[in-house]
Amino acid sequence: MDTNWIAIGNIADIPLRGARCVKTPQGRIAVFRTAENEAFAIEDHCPHKGGPLSQGIVHAKAVTCPLHNWVISLETGKALGADEGAVKTIPLRNEDGALFIALESLMMAAE
Ligand code: FES
Repeated sequence: MDTNWIAIGNIADIPLRGARCVKTPQGRIAVFRTAENEAFAIEDHCPHKGGPLSQGIVHAKAVTCPLHNWVISLETGKALGADEGAVKTIPLRNEDGALFIALESLMMAAE
């Protein structure tokens, strides 16, 4: 199946070690920019109690949830340390700073 890549702007629009929240029919997606200038997209919904991960603090390739400090890997979406749970990661393409996310399941839902 073809992947449906959606343009979501440029990495320069996201603060370093910050995030932007993108609203999609699939729900809120948090797009993060790490200190190393890498971008990751995961659901903006903490696996603990649904906290807005896009408002968390980014460190290395992880984000700390602003509500109760769970640490979520941006690469795998999994909670790190003693906590258990995971959020969905969203495929992201970075073309010289232009960012695209894949909303495959959205297309499937629309068919
Ligand atoms: S909601 Fe994220 S740590 Fe509790």
